[in-house]
Amino acid sequence: MSKVEIFEKERATGYNQFVETWIPNYNYFLDRLPKLLHDVKQKDLLVVGCGTGNEIERFIQSPDHWKITGIDPSPDMIAQAREKLKPYKNVRLIDGLVTDLNPATKYGAATLLLVLHFMNDNGEKLDLLRSIADRLSTGAPFVILDITGTKDQIKDNLKVLRCLLPDSLDQEQVDARIKRIESDLLHVSEERLSELWVEAGFDPPLRFSQSSIYMGWLTKKR
Ligand SMILES: C[S@@+](CC[C@H](N)C(=O)[O-])C[C@H]1O[C@@H](n2cnc3c(N)ncnc32)[C@H](O)[C@@H]1O
Repeated sequence: MSKVEIFEKERATGYNQFVETWIPNYNYFLDRLPKLLHDVKQKDLLVVGCGTGNEIERFIQSPDHWKITGIDPSPDMIAQAREKLKPYKNVRLIDGLVTDLNPATKYGAATLLLVLHFMNDNGEKLDLLRSIADRLSTGAPFVILDITGTKDQIKDNLKVLRCLLPDSLDQEQVDARIKRIESDLLHVSEERLSELWVEAGFDPPLRFSQSSIYMGWLTKKR
């Protein structure tokens, strides 16, 4: 059974402003996703933890004619995606978990952005990764954005993050957020992430992007 991190009320309504403020290069990373997956033959994308639909927006703007399925267990997040993406017939949005999707339907690519660091490494991360692998065609690319690193790497990269944040932020708020990232979020090292992916049925991943604590990874279904 997957762990669920519910985003509701202000955490959901303030989400887009939150990510733009606190995650350096968030928009740059999302904007480039369709280019990164341009060569995929089967243009049938699964967006896991699609939240307010930010990744999906980028794919509907791409000239590649993607068919997109977004799935998320937080009603207050996916409601915003529904509102925003209403006009698009090529987008299907589902309130729920990956395990609710029929494993007989195989997707040509998948994304998992800013979700995995809410799961414990006690089987929860692996369960989620396996459930995604089970729903992908062989060779399908899979993109992850996640807080990644050993304790020391996270500590040092949080110093970098502090420098990159907007000057206008309240210092107490910054301290609280940094403390939460360090103590409450469930990041693992690059080596462990790689092991989990291989165990779940993916190729060893390539780290193609990094902005302070946030690493972007690309792999494919074995
Ligand atoms: C930080 S938001 C990321 C949203 C979006 N991917 C983005 O990059 O803006 C995390 C999302 O993961 C969703 N989530 C929580 N538990 C999940 C699970 N077990 N499977 C899939 N999504 C989950 C939450 O509901 C939330 O919308």
